[in-house]
Amino acid sequence: MARYEIKGGTPLSGTVTISGAKNAAVAILPASLLVAGPCRIENVPDISDVRILLSILEGMGADIQRPEENVVIIDCSKVTDTRPNPELVKKMRASYYLMGALLGRCGRAHVALPGGCNFASRPIDQHIKGFEALGADVEETDDYVELEPGPHGLQGNRICLDIVSVGATINIIIAAVLLPGQTIIENAAKEPHIVDLANFLNTMGANVSGAGTDTVKIRGVESLKGGTYAIIPDQIEAGTYLAAAAATGGNVLVRNVIPKHMDCITSKLAEMGAEISNYDDALRIRAAGRLRHTTVKTHPYPGFPTDMQAQICVCMSLASGVSRLTESVYETRFFGYCSELESMGADIQINGKTAIVTGTDRLYGATVSAHDLRAGAALVIAGLAAEGTTWVKNIHYVERGYERLIGKLTALGAAIRRVED
Ligand code: UD1
Repeated sequence: MARYEIKGGTPLSGTVTISGAKNAAVAILPASLLVAGPCRIENVPDISDVRILLSILEGMGADIQRPEENVVIIDCSKVTDTRPNPELVKKMRASYYLMGALLGRCGRAHVALPGGCNFASRPIDQHIKGFEALGADVEETDDYVELEPGPHGLQGNRICLDIVSVGATINIIIAAVLLPGQTIIENAAKEPHIVDLANFLNTMGANVSGAGTDTVKIRGVESLKGGTYAIIPDQIEAGTYLAAAAATGGNVLVRNVIPKHMDCITSKLAEMGAEISNYDDALRIRAAGRLRHTTVKTHPYPGFPTDMQAQICVCMSLASGVSRLTESVYETRFFGYCSELESMGADIQINGKTAIVTGTDRLYGATVSAHDLRAGAALVIAGLAAEGTTWVKNIHYVERGYERLIGKLTALGAAIRRVED
C-alpha cells in the first residue's frame, strides 16, 4: 500500500505537459483487435489501466512492443482467444470494449463484467441493446457476458440509445466496423475520445462518419490494415491541473491540450475569477486572489464533464460565497469524496443531485482516502491547497488515470511524495 504525502500551501507555478487521453487509449487499444496488421499507437499514457489492458491483450495472443516511451506497437493478427482473462478484466471499467471488439472480429466473446471505479451503479444495458440490434445472442450472468451470432447472423442496424452513453456509443462503433451493411447510432455521445476512436479506425481503413455529433454512421468494411495513430491529449487530466492551479492561486501553462475540448471547464474557472489565455495547443491559467462562487451542472460533452465534478468542488470549497454543484450523470458520485473534503474543513451539504458548497478561507491537512480515480485527484488538489500536511490513501485509484502525477506536480513546485507504507 502506498499513499501520497502532500505539504500544502504552495501556489503551483510553471509548465505541465498533458499526456494522451486515458479514455481514448482504453478504447483504441481493444479496437486494434479489428486490425489485420501492426498498429503503431503514439501518445499512449503510461497508467495502470493501460498496463492492465495491454496484459489482457497480450494474454489473448497480441504481439505488443513498446519501442519508446508512450508508444505501443500492437499486432493482434494472431489473436483467436475470445475469453480474456477474467481476473484482469475485472480490474478495470473499460475492459467492456473487449466485448464489442471480439464480437466484431470473431463474432463471439465471453467477457467478465468490468470492475474499476464503482462510484455509482453503472449498468451496460445500452451496450447489450446495441449488440443485440447487430444480431448477437447475448447471455448475461452476474459474472460475465457471452455473445455469439444470433439466427440471422451479425449485420449493421439502426440503434437509438435510450441514454447518452459514452461506453455504449464506443462499443457499438467498434462492434460494427467489420459487419456487413450500415449501422446508425442515434442519440450517440459526443465526447472527444469518441471522435478520436473514429479517427483511429478510419486511419486503419474503417468508414465511420458523424462521430462528435449525436448520429454516428458506420459503413462496414471487409478489413482494416495497420497504420500509425497518435492519441489526443487528455481533457480531464488537463482540467485537473487547471483546477489545481486555480485552487492553489497558481500560474501554470498547460501544454499539449486541444483548447476547444477545454471550453466547458475553462469557462467555469474564468467565471470563478481565474484568468485563462488560449494558445494553439496550450492554455495558461493565472489565479490571483480568491476564487468566486459559481454554479455548475454536469452534462455529457460539450457540457461540464462529470469527471471534473470532484476537482471543481475543491475550487468551490475555497471560493467566496455559496456555490451549487449539480450532478446529472452519476447521482451518487458526491459520496466518493465530499466527506473526505469535509474532514479537511470544507462545508458541503448534499441535497439529492446538488451539493451546496459554502466556501471557506482555507482547508486543513488531514488523512483522507480516495474512493475512485477523480475523487482521488480532487483530494490531491485539496491537499496542495490546504494548510499543513495531507496524506491521501488508496492512491492506486489515482494511478489508474494520471501519468507521472508526482513528477508533474513536483515540477510545478508542489511538495508531494509517494510513500510506501
Ligand atoms: C465514460 C467514461 C467515464 C465518465 C463517463 C461519463 C470511459 C472509459 N469512461 O464512462 O470516465 O465518467 O463516461 O462521462 O470513457 N448508462 C446506462 N446504461 C448503459 C450505459 C450507461 O444506464 O448501458 C448510464 C450510466 O449509469 C450513466 C450514464 O448512462 O448514468 C452515462 O454513462 P456512460 O456515458 O456510459 O459512462 P461510461 O462509458 O461508463
